[in-house]
Amino acid sequence: MFAKFLSIGAYTPKNVMDNKYFESIVETDDEWIYKRTGIKTRFKADDNQYTSDLGVEAAKVAIQRAGIDKKDIGMIICATISPDYLCMPSTACIISHKLGLKNIPAFDISAACSGFIYALSIAKAYVEAKVAKYVLIIGAEKLSSIVDYTDRSTCVLFGDGAGAAIIGTTTNEKEKIIDINISADGEFQDFLITPGCGSKNPCSQKVLDEHLQFMKMKGNETFKVAVKTLSNDVVELLSRNGISSDKIDHFIPHQANYRIIKAVGDTLNLHEKQIVLTVEKYGNTSSASIPMAINDIYESKRLKNGDLMLLDAFGGGLTWGSSLVYFAGN
Ligand code: COA
Repeated sequence: MFAKFLSIGAYTPKNVMDNKYFESIVETDDEWIYKRTGIKTRFKADDNQYTSDLGVEAAKVAIQRAGIDKKDIGMIICATISPDYLCMPSTACIISHKLGLKNIPAFDISAACSGFIYALSIAKAYVEAKVAKYVLIIGAEKLSSIVDYTDRSTCVLFGDGAGAAIIGTTTNEKEKIIDINISADGEFQDFLITPGCGSKNPCSQKVLDEHLQFMKMKGNETFKVAVKTLSNDVVELLSRNGISSDKIDHFIPHQANYRIIKAVGDTLNLHEKQIVLTVEKYGNTSSASIPMAINDIYESKRLKNGDLMLLDAFGGGLTWGSSLVYFAGN
């Protein structure tokens, strides 16, 4: 019995923020943003639309495409750094209720941009242990709620969105999730951080005045570690499984910066056609970025059943992860 990646779904909020918009709120310009990041647009949820709402919309699509009865879902995992509520209830519990599901485990995980791959590894373990028939995994983010729109070094990078997948079981080797790496190194904990409103700096007027409730990033340092970690992780995963990079149909990296993706692609000797790029359109949507990218190639009919995907993510923590997965849609 193996775990399989049965379906994908995504949701993009309707409000577009293009680079010109940022020219109007901070000292920046379209040319700088596009040249340094590869981003042209990103999307923003409505004020009354929360992370759980984005996750629910993506989940509905994934459930419908899986062709399963939602009552057969045995677990819901939501990866997010922008939950509806800071501590509780979890966004997964809210999603579960909005989907009309009861009496199944539902929980959030905090692994920043690597969250979807972390969720995938938990789902794989649970279905292979026959604890759940199907697991719904979601990466959902309303990052606009934790972005400081006065900080030009971060605000231009991030967008809102959600992606979801159903993980099921198979006995067919050619349908399975082949392997997953997840890892972390807390030494670099301050590279990407929201310093305020946790137990260390509880919410106070001072915290709010200093904008500590928002994401801070050491961009340049993060960039260098990202390229190295993403490349090393994937090289190790491929060699452990005896798979060469030319066998990969779709390399789907976390969409943080075009230059990071290009550098990793070059290290792996990947052809342009193998690399999935959505950063131009969505910006960095953290845990939602990989499932949104998978959904893009699914909807544009580039992704076919039996295709081999290589997922690769990196994020705050620092955390990272990669996975070799056959797409096993219905
Ligand atoms: N518009 C114009 N100038 C900007 C700017 C903006 N939006 N943001 C930063 N700058 C300026 C800086 O102030 C700096 O100016 P200075 O030299 O006068 O001090 C200059 O551009 C260079 O800044 P630096 O941070 O060194 O640029 P960079 O080439 O590293 O690019 C990032 C910045 C954020 C795009 C890049 O570092 C990056 O993508 N890092 C990784 C991000 C990432 O992966 N994050 C998430 C991981 S999940």
